[in-house]
Amino acid sequence: LPPVIAIDGPSGSGKGTIAKLLAERLNFFLLDSGALYRTAALAALDRRVDLTDEVALAQVAKELDVRFAVHDSQLQVYLEGREVTSDIRMERVSMAASRVAAIPAVRAALLQRQRDFRRLPGLVADGRDMGTTVFPDAQVKIYLTAGAEERARRRAAQLRGEGVSVSLRDLLEDIRARDALDMNREASPLAAAEDAVELDSTGVDIEAVLQRVLTLVLD
Ligand code: CDP
Repeated sequence: LPPVIAIDGPSGSGKGTIAKLLAERLNFFLLDSGALYRTAALAALDRRVDLTDEVALAQVAKELDVRFAVHDSQLQVYLEGREVTSDIRMERVSMAASRVAAIPAVRAALLQRQRDFRRLPGLVADGRDMGTTVFPDAQVKIYLTAGAEERARRRAAQLRGEGVSVSLRDLLEDIRARDALDMNREASPLAAAEDAVELDSTGVDIEAVLQRVLTLVLD
């Protein structure tokens, strides 16, 4: 089987950025599993599916017509042929994604799709349960964290870069709410795999984190 590098952690820990840079450096495929949950959530919102209706949400996940493409080294996401790259990053979709992702039948419906990304020469998989559930046999597992305030600041900076202005207080609240949802759910809760290397990126810049990760990977 092709090698997998699993990068898990909470929202805003920088794992998305690290995963992307790592995949580019190694010429590996990239799985942004959060984008998959986000797209499932968007499909549910679009169809006005009740977010407590687990049967209907599992059906949405099963039928999800999603396609990923890379353009100018940016991930592009298509839902039923329509580009939803920026739509799936909206705050209301983030919250819905965490709710949808808490449903075991939704996770089960998306499991094989994630495993299908494992192709030669290898895969960098970014998410919450890459090292614990989706790729328990991953060659390298990294659990990336950072303090909640720092994660909220990073998210604010990222959104500002996209021309979106948001209050830091609201973002911090959202991050804490999403952490609680992700960590306390029954199905694949956010947690480090037993054999994961934990890295705290609070006060550490991305380049330094990437160097640490590269050392682990190339070891
Ligand atoms: O970018 P950010 O870290 O804020 O979120 P994301 O990685 O895009 O994931 C969005 C949501 O999907 C998370 O809050 C999780 O609830 C869920 N998710 C998950 O349950 N399992 C994964 N492997 C990836 C994401």
